[in-house]
Parts: sequence; C-alpha cells; structure tokens
Amino acid sequence: MCGRGGKGMKKTAIAPANIAFIKYWGKKNEELRIPANASISMNLLGAVTTTTVEFSSSYPKDTIELTDGSFSDGETRRITAHLDRIRQKAGIRDFARVVTKNSFPKSAGIASSASGFAALTLASAAAAGLSLPQKELTILARIGSGSACRSIPDGFVKWESGEKSEESYAHSLFPHDYWDIRDVLVVVDQTSKKISSSDGMKKAGTSPFWQERQRDIEKRIIQITKALEEKNFSEFGTILEDDCLSMHSVMMTQNPPLMYWNEATGNCIRNVQKWRKDGLPVFFTIDAGPNVHCICEGKDEKQLIDAIKTLSGVQSTLVNSCSQGAHITNTHLYQ
Ligand code: DP6
Repeated sequence: MCGRGGKGMKKTAIAPANIAFIKYWGKKNEELRIPANASISMNLLGAVTTTTVEFSSSYPKDTIELTDGSFSDGETRRITAHLDRIRQKAGIRDFARVVTKNSFPKSAGIASSASGFAALTLASAAAAGLSLPQKELTILARIGSGSACRSIPDGFVKWESGEKSEESYAHSLFPHDYWDIRDVLVVVDQTSKKISSSDGMKKAGTSPFWQERQRDIEKRIIQITKALEEKNFSEFGTILEDDCLSMHSVMMTQNPPLMYWNEATGNCIRNVQKWRKDGLPVFFTIDAGPNVHCICEGKDEKQLIDAIKTLSGVQSTLVNSCSQGAHITNTHLYQ
C-alpha cells in the first residue's frame, strides 16, 4: 500500500460529539494536551462527524475538505499536524485526501473539534495501515483536541488526567444503553464562539477560584461516578450543575475574564431551577458558549421540551441521547 507508489486504503470513520458532566478547563501540558484534571462525558447520538481519509503517493499535497463549509487556516494547520503524527507513527510519507462532514450545523452550538479529531484519528490511523488498541487511539485523538479522546470509547466516558502522555487516556465507564439520559440543547446564539476553548483555557490559572476548583474536582469525580453506578439522577444532576458553575466561575474571573453567557442563557438557567422546584427533574450544563444543555431522563424529555417552548430567546433545540463511540464504516464520502 502506501509508500509503494500507488493509492492506499481509503478508510472512513464516524465519531460523536460529547457533552462533559465534569469539565476539562486547563492543561498541565499545552503541547501534549494533558489536562489539569480528569473529566467525564456522554457521547451524543445525533451530533456526529464522518471523515474519509486516503494516503497516496499520487497526491502532491494534503487536501482537506469540509462538505458543508470550509476550514480556517488555523483549523487546516491543526488537521495537517495530526496527519503528520499518524504518518510518523506509521512510517509513511504519502500525502492524504481528507473529506469530512458534520451531521450538525456549526450554528447548532456544538463544538465539532471533539467529533472531528476523533473521526480523523480513527480514519487516518486505519488508512495508514495502523492497527492500534483503543487506549492508544484516545491518546492520539487527545493530542489533536483534548475532548476528542472522550468521543472514541462507548457511552459514558472518563478521561484520566495522568502526568505523562501515556497515562492521559479515555475509557468507557458504562455503555451507551446503560442509562437513558437525554441532552436537550437550547440554542440561544447561533454564532460561533469568539474565544476558542483552546485559547480561553490558557488563562484558567489566573482565576482566584482555580485552586479551589482543582481541590474539589476529584471529590466530584468520585461522587458522580457513584451517582452513575446507582443511577441516582438527582445526585448526578446536582454534581454536573455544580461542576458547570465551578468552571464558569473560573472563566468569568480569569484575567482577562471570559463571559460566554448572554441574557437568554441566564433566563434559561433560572427557568431550569424553577422547573426543578416545580417537580421536573432537569439540570443544566454549559460549555464555552452561551447555549444551555438541559439534562434529563428519557421519561421527562417531552415535558422538558414543552417547558422550553415557553422560553423567550430560543433559536432552536437539539435532542441527543447517549451513543456508542467512534467506529469505522464502509460508506465513504468520496470514490
Ligand atoms: C469547555 O477539547 O475544545 O468544552 O484540547 O484545546 O482542543 P483543546 O480544547 P477542547 O476543550 C473543551 C472544553 C469544554 C469542556 C469539556 O468539554 O470538557
């Protein structure tokens, strides 16, 4: 195959985005993307990236296409650097054609870097002829984008922080059909975020709340794992909401401060608290943007959606249940 003057194997992978219940915000090692703390997430069924990769000696350079848009120069450089890592590992020099497609629009408020780098890692490793264990695939995906490592294993996933690269990997805690948890994303702003997570988290350590967050997080990891084990939804929701507020306290008090919320975000949060008081078990979590992920059990989804319809400032909603991790498919994006 590769390196022998012809076309290589074409491989395609599908990977889900994920929503973190215990968040990743801050790194121990910038270049290797080793996080300051462990994190826990759930893969999202309806928000996936599909990526086809082929290495060939007949390609004069790497070409990287997004079917429904275009990558910025920075994004293209990050993808090429990832292809270089795979080439180096496989001992090949051929350039690649990469075609990638997201099932969700950029405006949906879900970051595509997690699903994107997970799909790219799986497809390019397979196309380069590498057969790697899942742990190693998560480590490679992590170096592309931290949260991408959580999109590779099945269902509910933990990313171990680790001190060295080989210790910082993701693994499944529970399979996707373990517990019917729903993420109802309330989109209140469709424009993409002004400051990326990568840039934003560089200054996390300047917040006076940073040390406190680090001190508390291990306890939250233990508590949320127990809540997952026991399928104790009110405990699970309380911890994920606490962690979201802890991360946003750090964001808002970093130097310079990062204010991702807008008026509709605050309104949605207050209503989630009110609905809960009125007997609807729902909790919120928010990433590096203004959109609110409302977390409930499957049995309460309909009532939650009806409640969300009464909110002002909502542009769209997107419902996701828990899904399997990244996998290879035989349906390619180009022939
Ligand atoms: C707020 O994984 O996008 O969504 O590793 O620099 O690519 P890089 O950052 P990224 O950060 C995600 C941050 C977050 C929280 C989370 O998903 O845990």
